[in-house]
Amino acid sequence: ALIDKGNHRHFMQKEIYEQPVVVAQTLQSYIRPVEQKVALPDMGFDLSKIERVAIVACGTASYVGMIGKYWIERFARLPVEVDVASEFRYRDPVLLPNTLGVVVSQSGETADTLAALRHMKANGVTTAGIINVPTSSMAREVDLLLSTHAGPEIGVASTKAFTCQLAVMAALAVNLARASGRLAEDEERAIVRHLIEAPAGINAALAHDAEIEAMAHTIAQARDVLYLGRGPDYPLALEGALKLKEISYIHAEGYASGEMKHGPIALIDDSVPLIVLAPSGPLFDKTVSNMQEAKARGARVVLISDAEGLAQAGDDAVATIEMPSVHPLIAPLVYAVPVQLLAYHVAVAKGTDVDQPRNLAKSVTVE
Ligand code: AGP
Repeated sequence: ALIDKGNHRHFMQKEIYEQPVVVAQTLQSYIRPVEQKVALPDMGFDLSKIERVAIVACGTASYVGMIGKYWIERFARLPVEVDVASEFRYRDPVLLPNTLGVVVSQSGETADTLAALRHMKANGVTTAGIINVPTSSMAREVDLLLSTHAGPEIGVASTKAFTCQLAVMAALAVNLARASGRLAEDEERAIVRHLIEAPAGINAALAHDAEIEAMAHTIAQARDVLYLGRGPDYPLALEGALKLKEISYIHAEGYASGEMKHGPIALIDDSVPLIVLAPSGPLFDKTVSNMQEAKARGARVVLISDAEGLAQAGDDAVATIEMPSVHPLIAPLVYAVPVQLLAYHVAVAKGTDVDQPRNLAKSVTVE
């Protein structure tokens, strides 16, 4: 079928806006709303036998893996290793029995991820795949296919596939937690309620589009941009930096907030915008002190947080973007939106080819 941009200027913009619908669509396959339970498709193996998880992916999909590590370790108390596929496959990884190997891929054709999947299977590892293209090589080869229902993603910069992958990763984490006997029924119900709220949270985040567009004109002047986040928002900082690099060609790096003082702070002056992704929570005051350290060195801080966080941070930020208050579990799905919109509008301001950035292919089928 012919896919068009509808009322949107670019596929990337259209795909950003599709997220409330496609995330809801994806969650439908993994949630039983009446029983408030998470369910995976039928599988030929017993999840309660799983003792550890190895997640392998590339690029944006690898950040889903990193976020999954926080979730699976927290809820299921299973150790998780995350690797980029190009490293995993060549470093002769130690694959212990009762490992669940998980690949994450939009296309299902990325050469390194496919090779990593085959390596795991050849070593007797049971595999699951969070994959968007159901007819792809990976979808055919995994033991357990966990489909994302994002629909075709045309923009080279991955957006809706990412948030749908996160939704499935959350469902997988909850299932592993239940199978390991570590999740009380009421906890599971609470998580399901939060997941069901994710599409509304994404919608609320989209409402800040015009504000982000206005801010993008200043950021488009920068030579370097830093992104900071903590916990599951750290991989999101990496995603923000990757997105900006890919389509605007501005140099950007993501760091764990607490790592800034171990090096990157040397880069900071008044020409470096610092994008801080920080929902309120127990560690928020630590992030505020990281921001103050940066501000004292002239950084122009853009704080993305909820009302509570923004109030607590006071006037340390030159600009703020207010996210809805959401449970920390779904924060990465919601905070992904301002990060995507920022990259999008900066690229549009710079006049680059948003959907087909230079040197990049949608699906990297060479090694
Ligand atoms: C994301 O914006 C990138 N274009 C890229 O990192 C991508 O996520 C990566 O190549 C993995 O692709 P896949 O999900 O199709 O395996």
